[in-house]
Amino acid sequence: MTADIREKILKLKKERNAIILAHLYQRPEIQEIADATGDSYYLSKVARDCEQDVIVFCGVKFMADSAKILSPHKTVLLPVLDAGCPMAEMADTEGVQRLKEEHPNATVVCYINSTTEVKALCDVSVTSSSADKIISNIESDEIIFLPDRNLGGYIAERFPDKKFILWDGFCITHVRVEPEEVIELKEKIEDALVLAHPECEKEIRDLADFIGSTSHIIDYATNSDKKNFIIVTEEGILYELKKRNPDKNFYIPGGSMTCQNMKKTTLEDVYNSLLYMQHNITIDEEIRVKALKSLERMHELTK
Ligand code: 13P
Ligand code: SF4
Repeated sequence: MTADIREKILKLKKERNAIILAHLYQRPEIQEIADATGDSYYLSKVARDCEQDVIVFCGVKFMADSAKILSPHKTVLLPVLDAGCPMAEMADTEGVQRLKEEHPNATVVCYINSTTEVKALCDVSVTSSSADKIISNIESDEIIFLPDRNLGGYIAERFPDKKFILWDGFCITHVRVEPEEVIELKEKIEDALVLAHPECEKEIRDLADFIGSTSHIIDYATNSDKKNFIIVTEEGILYELKKRNPDKNFYIPGGSMTCQNMKKTTLEDVYNSLLYMQHNITIDEEIRVKALKSLERMHELTK
């Protein structure tokens, strides 16, 4: 059955001149059939630069929206329409507008995990892998950062000379981890290194040997001569970690860390997406052009 649907997907993909992109938190079988997998920064670059007419984005809505903002002439399909990111919904335009009025000289930086309407109000978008470089390229010493208080807090620690005004958003998957769960694993596997995503709370980040985006975590573990790693991010990352490092061991605190939204997309959904060309992302042109500025600036400042 699985082999059958895989073949059907590949056949349709050719007929439609489509590319399948999958975030590193997607189910293993989705990552397996994808043409490209990666973190949100890498996928946004592939979506922007690819030559195919159709992009099937196996991820969450803000990722497909970002692809459409950058490439309005391409058809961008999100296989499951309600695969959203709760964090992206935590920042609203009224609140952002209010903050901008309160801090008129601040540069407004949004995590790519935000809605198109919010991006349209911001000066620049960042991802977890590009935030450091982008902030170092921003001259202003006052920064409004939204919606993730944790990525924002982590970046603020790295730039003590800048004043950060943080939104109080968070990732419901990453904040679930308790420090005790990490400490317990560290005690059990004494030589293990802790690799954590910056969406984790400060207490977790303080326990980490390395903090980075999903792809930076994979690169770090792959290039390390250590054998054991405690991975504090969504468990979908294990697929690529194990593929690249079959002889190393990876442990997730609490046994599992699952983003329900990232797991909504199945092979069946990808097949239906290509068959019925669903769900076609559309964005109001006026908002798209405004949001585009913040995404283009992200790519410019990351060079
Ligand atoms: P990265 O892919 O940039 O590491 O971000 C993780 C994430 O939370 C995506 O929603
Ligand atoms: Fe959003 Fe967190 Fe899921 Fe990423 S892992 S999509 S930030 S809820």
